[in-house]
Amino acid sequence: MTSAGPRVRGRFTGTLGAVAATLGSAVGLGNIWKFPYMTGESGGAAFIIVYVIATFLIGLPVMISEHVIGRTARSDAIGSLRKLAPKEPWWLIGTAGVIAAFLIIAFYTEVIGWVLIYIVKAFSGQIVTTDPSVTGAAFGSVISNPWLALGLQWVVLAGLMAIIIAGVSRGIEAMVKRLLPILFVILLIIAIRSLTLPGASAGLEFLFKPDLSKLSFGVVLAAMGLAFFKLSVGMGTMITYGSYYPEEQDIPKSAVRVMLGDLFVSLLAGVAIFPAVFAFGVEKAAGPSLMFITMPTVFSSLPGGPVVQSIFMGLFFVLAACAATGAALSLFEVPVAFLEDHTGWSRKRAAIVTAVALAVAGAFPALAESWLSGVKIGGLNLFDAFDFASSNILLPVGGLFLCIFLGWRWGWPQVKEGLTNKGSLDNQGMVRFFYGVAKLISPVLILVVLLGGLGVLGG
Ligand code: TRP
Repeated sequence: MTSAGPRVRGRFTGTLGAVAATLGSAVGLGNIWKFPYMTGESGGAAFIIVYVIATFLIGLPVMISEHVIGRTARSDAIGSLRKLAPKEPWWLIGTAGVIAAFLIIAFYTEVIGWVLIYIVKAFSGQIVTTDPSVTGAAFGSVISNPWLALGLQWVVLAGLMAIIIAGVSRGIEAMVKRLLPILFVILLIIAIRSLTLPGASAGLEFLFKPDLSKLSFGVVLAAMGLAFFKLSVGMGTMITYGSYYPEEQDIPKSAVRVMLGDLFVSLLAGVAIFPAVFAFGVEKAAGPSLMFITMPTVFSSLPGGPVVQSIFMGLFFVLAACAATGAALSLFEVPVAFLEDHTGWSRKRAAIVTAVALAVAGAFPALAESWLSGVKIGGLNLFDAFDFASSNILLPVGGLFLCIFLGWRWGWPQVKEGLTNKGSLDNQGMVRFFYGVAKLISPVLILVVLLGGLGVLGG
């Protein structure tokens, strides 16, 4: 371990840049891939309601907690907790977070790899067909080809690495600011096309008219897991981003904006997908393959012929790629920030080492449908196991301990100081409210759902 001189930590360019980068982290495949497929599987509006409640009462308080921890300590996920509570084991939360980051990026970059090849397949008209067995076979041939799966992931990792090396503001923030508007415009175009199809209203009804009989503990667990995953909380990503926040940021206010913006993108993605899914009568509960097997058949059913169909289909995958980039960058940044803060390595070196380590970890989910298809954990293949273990276990457990740290160890005077910017903001009421929720309500809810989930898993 070498010691470099005093180094300048990255910083977002201002309050708006900080919100953009944070929104860029939240908005991702979670909105375009997970939220729609889970909504389709778990009963539509009823699931969405539980998800929104989980976002308010769990995701948002954890996000605010992470931001204030990071901005106060100005260090990475592990270093921040160590700084605020020296010689106490709270930094283990950060360590669990770095592990979770590895598990998530491992499968996340693989999905981005599929998205990239689907951009090519879609625009070139290779998957214009309304037969799901054809699109299913096309998807199968991608995921069961080990070298293709690895190669795609390496391309994605290399691209992310290059942006990370460019820096916090000139790499991450600048990239996200460019991608978010593109994402929004494409999403709007597809949503309008979908909404104007004959028979679209059944999809809207599915999205917005709840059927509470669809709820079960498994569904609630899934909704909570999604709330964590969606807002990028529970593992220190938001501590890391908080450590780049400007002093003048109104953290509760900007977190609420990020949460609302992210929810809006998810709902808009739902509006882009479900009216069309219902209009053409295709299977809505396809699970994770909804995006790759079902959606091509949906776009292939659009009026206007194969060229129009390929364009909409291609745009959809470009949209997914735009969304995924900012999110993947925020995951990648977690180990990079850790290495930068603790080894004295340059950012470049930290990013290269991280990329190589991620290529190794990523090989497990990437090869889940080829060389490693025989490996199962609890009945799940490696891809699904990485996803499940991170979203449904590690993130909630991380969030639980973060809330306990904030409410019961760090305490009100520090939190108040941190969230009111030393009393200079007029947001005491809001700060008090979130502190109460993070201290008393979120931990209980997380615990209940986790324990209930154990029962579901056991039974
Ligand atoms: N929020 C992102 C999405 O919805 C995924 C993501 C990015 C994430 N960073 C994270 C999830 C940190 C958990 C933790 O796609």
